[in-house]
Amino acid sequence: MTVNAERRHAEVEDRKTLADFLRDDCGLTGTHLGCEHGVCGACTVLLDGDAVRACLLFAVQADGRSVTTVEGMAPPGELSPVQQAFRDCHGLQCGFCTPGFVVSVTAFLAENPTPTDAEIRDALSGNLCRCTGYQGIVRAVEQAARSVASVEPQ
Ligand code: FES
Ligand code: FES
Repeated sequence: MTVNAERRHAEVEDRKTLADFLRDDCGLTGTHLGCEHGVCGACTVLLDGDAVRACLLFAVQADGRSVTTVEGMAPPGELSPVQQAFRDCHGLQCGFCTPGFVVSVTAFLAENPTPTDAEIRDALSGNLCRCTGYQGIVRAVEQAARSVASVEPQ
């Protein structure tokens, strides 16, 4: 599979999850595991551009496909508009949930670059922050949407 634009070859057990493959075999530990049941969203990655739960997929299901983790959101040393907005708006506390939020929000804004407040809250409902820091996260999505809109003419 391709992970963050890099080809990865590995032999893995059929039962190995994509999340474990990314963390253990690729060393990409930004993909976090919270519930391992598809509930919390901490393990969210992009699979061919769509946000998916890496804890609910087997690594072999991503064979031949393209995976983007939070580490691949921007070139090394740079922040994507969504990452920058989370930083600016204090969209994190302990930060455990942040990678999942960043990936989910990136996919959401790619589909809906000018969301309403209700759409933002609906989109965020699939990710859990146990620190209940949602207000900063909502502000971060609003800033990221403005920033994406300013560089990508509609
Ligand atoms: S660890 Fe995958 S959704 Fe919680
Ligand atoms: S910032 Fe702590 S879980 Fe979200």
